[in-house]
Amino acid sequence: ATQYLADWRPYPFEIDETRLEFHLHPTATRVLSQIDFRRTAPGDLVLDGAGLRTLSLSVDGQPIDPALIHEADERLTIPDLPDRFTFSAEVEIDPQANTALEGLYLSGGMFCTQCEAQGFRHITWYPDRPDVMAPFRVTIHSDQPVLLSNGNPVEQAPGRAVWVDPWKKPAYLFALVAGDLRAVSDHFTTMSGRDVALNVWVRPGDEGRAGYAMESLIRSMRWDETAYGREYDLDVFNIVAVDDFNMGAMENKGLNIFNSKLVLATAETATDGDYERIEGVIGHEYFHNWTGNRITCRDWFQLCLKEGLTVFRDQQFTSDMRSAAVKRIHDVQTLRARQFREDSGPLSHPPRPDHYQEINNFYTATVYEKGAEVIGMLKRLVGDDGYAKALDLYFTRHDGQACTIEDWIAVFQDATGRDLTQFKRWYTDAGTPRLTMTEDWQDGTLVLNFRQDIAPTPGQSEKPPRVIPIAIGLIGPNGDEVLPTTVLEMTEAQQSFRFDGLGARPVVSLLRGFSAPVTVTREITANEQALLLAHDSDAYARWQAGHDLALDELTRRATGAAGSRALVQALGGVLDDAERDPAFAALCLALPGEEEIATTLAARGTPPDPDAIHAARHALLSEIAEAHQTAFARLYEAMAPQGPYRPDAEGAARRSLRLACLANLSRRDGGARAEALFASAGNMTERQGALEQLIALGRDAQALADFEAEFRDNRLVMDKWFMVQPLRAAPDQAVARARALAQRPDFDWKNPNRFRSLISGLTANHAAFHAADGSGYDFLADWLIRLDPVNPQTTARMCSAFETISRYDATRQARAKAVLARIAALPGLSRNTAEMVTRILAGL
Ligand code: ARG
Ligand code: ZN
Repeated sequence: ATQYLADWRPYPFEIDETRLEFHLHPTATRVLSQIDFRRTAPGDLVLDGAGLRTLSLSVDGQPIDPALIHEADERLTIPDLPDRFTFSAEVEIDPQANTALEGLYLSGGMFCTQCEAQGFRHITWYPDRPDVMAPFRVTIHSDQPVLLSNGNPVEQAPGRAVWVDPWKKPAYLFALVAGDLRAVSDHFTTMSGRDVALNVWVRPGDEGRAGYAMESLIRSMRWDETAYGREYDLDVFNIVAVDDFNMGAMENKGLNIFNSKLVLATAETATDGDYERIEGVIGHEYFHNWTGNRITCRDWFQLCLKEGLTVFRDQQFTSDMRSAAVKRIHDVQTLRARQFREDSGPLSHPPRPDHYQEINNFYTATVYEKGAEVIGMLKRLVGDDGYAKALDLYFTRHDGQACTIEDWIAVFQDATGRDLTQFKRWYTDAGTPRLTMTEDWQDGTLVLNFRQDIAPTPGQSEKPPRVIPIAIGLIGPNGDEVLPTTVLEMTEAQQSFRFDGLGARPVVSLLRGFSAPVTVTREITANEQALLLAHDSDAYARWQAGHDLALDELTRRATGAAGSRALVQALGGVLDDAERDPAFAALCLALPGEEEIATTLAARGTPPDPDAIHAARHALLSEIAEAHQTAFARLYEAMAPQGPYRPDAEGAARRSLRLACLANLSRRDGGARAEALFASAGNMTERQGALEQLIALGRDAQALADFEAEFRDNRLVMDKWFMVQPLRAAPDQAVARARALAQRPDFDWKNPNRFRSLISGLTANHAAFHAADGSGYDFLADWLIRLDPVNPQTTARMCSAFETISRYDATRQARAKAVLARIAALPGLSRNTAEMVTRILAGL
């Protein structure tokens, strides 16, 4: 059944305390609960429960008739209750059978939990909604050596532990872990002098791989104090790494649970990208302690209240720890690749949706990444001081509350006096605005004419204009900046801005810093793009100019037009300057991917041809490799390691340029350098980079065998091995290769990391996944059908590989439609997958 935002009603009870007692057993865990309710409004007590074996129910010691349980609705409704009472339940659950990884489950013999969004109802009867908050007291009985829950430990004895969390919280923030774990420990003194014990818990043998996670945690705690004045509020902070996890990580109060790939790292096993993600996600989950936990969401429609804000905060953190320019460019690339893609297809929804069938399908790029962009725009509109004032007000006004987007906007209005009525559309309306700019130039006056259009999205046909902050600069013909960054506030559907007293006609540096999540259409020549690429003072805009130049070149070639030399020449300038800013050069050398070329063609009304796109990109890369071979050889040597591996921004920048050079050199040396680097590199960044080149060249047999022999026993490293093969293989071989890999005994498909590595390795290989014979679609569908009864969440997420299908030709659409219909027709299909497939089919 569809849930609607408009149907939210306050819960008629508050909870004074929740007491839980767990008797852990792999197949028969008993959970005893005592919940002290206090009435705040008339109404029945409604509790959620799913898949529970209910042994007893009582109110103030009086048994409750189990017939009040409505199995189909997963609800227990008790009428006629007094104003205060204690509800108790005893239930039995089976963690071992819990392959969906929602609620209490086993991972490698360890008990762990995932309760967001609605996992707690798989543990016991409870008001499983985020606006019902309570302090928790948790007793764990188990022979596992380490027993953890939220809050502070108050009793620890062999076989038993008691944890008390004094901060009231919703059930989705509950966590429990029990297992044979080892801690990497440190401590942190907060700004008011509280000493906090810090632990990163890992499996025995992994202690040497948790140091970077711990350093990242300490940096996060310090940063939140200096940047936001937010201090930690318990005596301990625990992080646990688990191997089986549907998502990245979870911000449970005082007990964050992480996918082990976001905790464990050594130079030999993790890439620079892995290190950066670990730091970012450790920060993200830690920052949730204030933006999510102390202040939570009233209902799940408000998910972006905590996620958009916390992503925005982790982006700021990474910018401060590393390079702000590189971080911004990465974030824009991700937003375009994931959120613009989502927004332009059948799954488009606003950052704050107003209906859903399965909330787990809404942990999306739109809620997270666009949610963060919207906050970035807000900050730009009210200024840094306005933002700081608003955030201070948010924390003081709403501490301890479950809030809405309306509360969030009110804080900005009250702190800054600005009317944000129109701004709110960014939260409630779906779709990516297309911004079109034309220019009029006469006698030293430049007029910029803007138009904003937003295509209809599912269920929303009317799209009134939004306020768009357009940051621009003007660059003179010699490359000097004649107007520094200026923010134009566009509020109308069409609006013009005028600049007088200019000498020569300047080039507009448009949407500096990517000041709004919009697409841009403008008239610009290759020479003007090259001027911006060479001279723009805004690093993002400089990169974007080169990227647009490349995208124009690639789309022309992919549709059969003749190529030009403009990009090849412009890259020469970038390479001359590369040693000054290696990361920037590497970003420019990474041409737009095949998927982005397809997106661009589709937006211009041309159905993309995956094979033509692949061929055009390949040919252009070969021209670049040839034209600049001397520079690539020189830079490859210049970027060689200078001392031991350090996972910092400077080292990562040099390695990224070195690998970009390697990719170019490999097109001409038959893989000699890649083989040498694979054999000699002491870090995973270079090893994986070299391996990817060897796979692309089809010279990978020896390297893959060596890699496997070395890392056979390391699940996380073998995930990379499973991923890079379908990803980098030639498109006409990738599906067969993925099928063969899926036959291996170590393709442990019930492990979400392993499943995603292989399957999304293939779906990210654009020309392979969209093979004209439909073999890519069949492969994905076969595996989705197999995984759905085991793990609906992970299955449903991966359905989004089909969200772009309406862009392609009729044959591909028909083939995809057929496999989607095959999935939709399955008896017992999960609600998660059913919702995704229905929404995608509705767009075809
Ligand atoms: N709140 C977590 C995070 O961003 C995500 C958990 C989502 N899990 C899920 N099953 N929907 O940081
Ligand atoms: Zn989050």
